[in-house]
Amino acid sequence: MKVLVYGAGVLGSYLAHALVRGGNDVSVLARGKRYKQLKEDGIVIRHHFQRKNTVDAVNVIDQLQPQDHYDLIFVVMKYNQFPSVLPILAENISDNIVLVGNNADAASMQTFLNENSKVKKNMAFGFQLSGGMREDSGRIIAIHGRGQMVIGGLDGDIPFKSALEQTFKNAKYKLSFNENIDAWLKSHMVPIAAMNAIHYMNNFDFHKIAKDKNALMQMISVMDEGFMILEELGYRIDPAFQVKTVRNHRIFAYHGLKIFHKLPVTKLIEGSFSEINALFEKFDELKKAVNISTPNWDALKKQSTDKYRNEVIRDSR
Ligand SMILES: NC(=O)c1ccc[n+]([C@@H]2O[C@H](COP(=O)([O-])OP(=O)(O)OC[C@H]3O[C@@H](n4cnc5c(N)ncnc54)[C@H](OP(=O)(O)O)[C@@H]3O)[C@@H](O)[C@H]2O)c1
Repeated sequence: MKVLVYGAGVLGSYLAHALVRGGNDVSVLARGKRYKQLKEDGIVIRHHFQRKNTVDAVNVIDQLQPQDHYDLIFVVMKYNQFPSVLPILAENISDNIVLVGNNADAASMQTFLNENSKVKKNMAFGFQLSGGMREDSGRIIAIHGRGQMVIGGLDGDIPFKSALEQTFKNAKYKLSFNENIDAWLKSHMVPIAAMNAIHYMNNFDFHKIAKDKNALMQMISVMDEGFMILEELGYRIDPAFQVKTVRNHRIFAYHGLKIFHKLPVTKLIEGSFSEINALFEKFDELKKAVNISTPNWDALKKQSTDKYRNEVIRDSR
């Protein structure tokens, strides 16, 4: 299959690697420094758990032209970065698009493409279950078991499911089709926002957070309230164990989070507050539709977004 991975950061690079190894004709779209790194060195990955390095040569482009046709395009970037790419996808003739990453607003992105595209777009949304970070040299440190993506469409079955299955057939990578992908993505953003906001407030000092009972209990309360908002809006939390754990087994959740923050590997998972800031903003819109009290969610959102705003203002001076 002729595939484009649009966005060559931590997760996009790993996806491109898996697809190349699966026998596909893979191009990667990157910009600036990343474009140069990929052109010169290929996709360089340190697979942390597997204790091995891989280098894959791929076709690298820095622009998607309207007439460039791909059987599948995976857009792999942060939630706040998708909007700048949607008009470019709308102009392009390819029809099968998967947006991969945190997404609190899949429906509006689909509507935008439906209303603005020159050719009818078939869309799916995915989340890759891996993590990692990028070194200055461009090498990716990838944390993964077998590669895996949770994927689904907003309107039932994905029309290009067979193309997806064919693309991944020989890749060491599992697609987990999910009929409830919008709820899955919204459920996922709740723990991510709660944890990442506390990481950010503590300057990503995981060692300190692991010892701070108040911070860990605050994470749990914020998650519980985030899930309450989604439930009130009619979303089924997916997977359900997340809400059951933070609501009914708080001590278990506390010890789980404590262990998680102590693990050396946790430090290798990159976090960005620019994305969380945008997710909080979108979640505010959802929150307006329900009338429930969420003091922990509101306080953490305010503290972390105020800190972010001050830092962005300070850095722009
Ligand atoms: N990293 C993790 O550990 C991890 C774990 C689980 C989930 N996730 C989620 O997965 C998603 C992707 O994360 P990630 O870590 O792969 O992000 P990332 O490393 O920041 O990668 C995003 C890539 O997209 C590129 N990009 C953004 N806008 C672009 C544009 N307009 N044109 C061309 N390229 C553009 C960026 O370019 P530059 O190189 O110029 O920045 C970057 O290379 C996010 O939702 C994230 O939260 C990440």
